Amino acid sequence: MTPEPPVESVHDLLRGMAALSGHRIVADVARLYGKGAPPDLSIACNHKQIASKQWLVEALAQTLPQPEGPVWVLGAWYGVLGALLLDDEGLAVSEVVSLDVDPSCASIAETLNHRHVASGRFRAVTADMTALDLAATTPRPGLVINTSCEHLADVPGWLATLPAGLPLLLQSNDYYREPDHRSCVPSLAAFREQAGLSEVWFAGARPTKNYTRFMLIGRR
Ligand SMILES: C[S@@+](CC[C@H](N)C(=O)[O-])C[C@H]1O[C@@H](n2cnc3c(N)ncnc32)[C@H](O)[C@@H]1O
Repeated sequence: MTPEPPVESVHDLLRGMAALSGHRIVADVARLYGKGAPPDLSIACNHKQIASKQWLVEALAQTLPQPEGPVWVLGAWYGVLGALLLDDEGLAVSEVVSLDVDPSCASIAETLNHRHVASGRFRAVTADMTALDLAATTPRPGLVINTSCEHLADVPGWLATLPAGLPLLLQSNDYYREPDHRSCVPSLAAFREQAGLSEVWFAGARPTKNYTRFMLIGRR
């Protein structure tokens, strides 16, 4: 087995790449890594995860570039998507609320998004998305994103708890082999049926090596 590279050399590498690229999010990842990141940060930031989130940002810029209220990201893990949404020049997102049921995620997400925490545009929340009352939330969300639909036991049941007409962006996949996945779908058509949106503004599938990711943007 190849030994893990020492933490200092990965930190140095990330800081070097941040300097070379001039990319603020790379600098933020390097800073987080230097503060002691969880081992699966490398999964949350791997090229497949980043590509699926860049696909999301591009599709959102075409369909709903200026949501009329905060963007709630559910199942947000370490807040990587929030960082991309808040830095993208094609989007005008006033605020991101980054929610995950895992209590270890919030502080990591806030460290990653420290610049936006300081400016009041980012906050992380620990909660179960299936127990939220988004109809009672003020200000009303302008968009709810869930890129973790495959992790829920009952996607239609969760969707039924959301206010009618709410703008939604949903992702799922056909990666049945992953043990934490409970609601995978075999095709984009099956995902459309599972989601039952009243309006669909975007529907797409993105094949990767091991699975296909599906995305829908529209209204509940
Ligand atoms: C592996 S991660 C992200 C996977 C997803 N495909 C993505 O790239 O965004 C899934 C996250 O969903 C979270 N999660 C699962 N069920 C949840 C729930 N009921 N409420 C909030 N977060 C949940 C997990 O804690 C985990 O951080």
